[in-house]
Amino acid sequence: MDTKIEINSKEYQLARYPKTVDKSLRAWSNAELLVLDYIVDKKTENIHLFNDRFGVWNCALNDKKLVTVWTYASQQKAIEQNLKLNNFSDEVNYKTPLEDLNKVDLALLKIPKSLELFELFLQQIHKAANDKTEVVCGFMTKHFSASYLKIVEQYFNVVQQSKAWKKARLLVLEQPKKIVEYKELVNTINWKDNSIKQHYGVFSSGKVDIGTQFFLEHLNVKEDELNILDVASGNGVIALEAFNLNPNSNVTLIDDFNLAIASSQLNLKDKKANFICADNLNDVEKNSFDLVVSNPPFHFEHENNIEVALNLFKGVQNCLKINGRFLLVANKHLNYKTHLGKLFNEVIVVDSNKKFEIIECS
Ligand SMILES: C[S@@+](CC[C@H](N)C(=O)[O-])C[C@H]1O[C@@H](n2cnc3c(N)ncnc32)[C@H](O)[C@@H]1O
Repeated sequence: MDTKIEINSKEYQLARYPKTVDKSLRAWSNAELLVLDYIVDKKTENIHLFNDRFGVWNCALNDKKLVTVWTYASQQKAIEQNLKLNNFSDEVNYKTPLEDLNKVDLALLKIPKSLELFELFLQQIHKAANDKTEVVCGFMTKHFSASYLKIVEQYFNVVQQSKAWKKARLLVLEQPKKIVEYKELVNTINWKDNSIKQHYGVFSSGKVDIGTQFFLEHLNVKEDELNILDVASGNGVIALEAFNLNPNSNVTLIDDFNLAIASSQLNLKDKKANFICADNLNDVEKNSFDLVVSNPPFHFEHENNIEVALNLFKGVQNCLKINGRFLLVANKHLNYKTHLGKLFNEVIVVDSNKKFEIIECS
């Protein structure tokens, strides 16, 4: 994998976290480089960074005062890893997308795949904006659509698009609108007797995902399964159902995305539940769970890969009790059964339909 990059005559080392076997993937994109080029002569000291996925901006702008709005635990690890790799301090001034920002003069934003997350970022910026605020958004042209422009126009009066450079382009936003009616950027999904809440940008907006629905229809929890883990828990709908099926249980939810964890905290606030924002199970106690449930991740922004899920499966094997069960739902074409067969003694497809299968491992 290519890890060396020269930016404004300085060389940096930038590696991906988590590591990947796909050698074509790099820890930066031309969209991020184009943003850096655009701001090279700007004197602004106080810069807010949104969606700096692997830390290219944190490294290249290390001499400035930066605030990093983070979304993924794995993103924090990538940023800190790359700061260390370039001999910078790995202390980062983080904020979540749900926190108030002090004053935004210049914001750099790598446009996320989720339109909702894009709007959440823009609203957060707008709340802390002044007449001089400038927002520089970078994107790869193949990932752009007019829907992003519709969102932008709700918050800013001046919207300019740059020329393309190496298949990347910029949207530069200026003059925040004087009057914007802020919405609460939370969706509500009615599911059985529950009303599930989720912050904008969390998996499966507006409805329970069809794979998840199939899983929930077939989910069973035994009376003696008291310690339950939901891996890649999203809004927490699977954990909630598991808890409802065994109200004596204690559920732990893990997700890499801080807005997913924040959403599940809304949905399980009065339940016996622990919430962990993490991208692996390394800090979870070994042999501690009776039942692990999951609809594991497969899409990461515009990339699809099963490496992350396979790593989570190894973690599940470690934290499951000897007689514990691991129940998951997956797209049939992913062929997880073969991979799981290398980790568990018994791997059975307990239910399937045209698209999905539910696998039980013990
Ligand atoms: C397919 S969604 C399932 C969400 C939820 N369980 C549901 O069924 O609606 C997968 C989830 O995995 C999370 N995720 C991605 N990478 C992860 C990782 N390395 N560790 C934990 N969660 C991860 C995503 O943020 C997303 O919420």
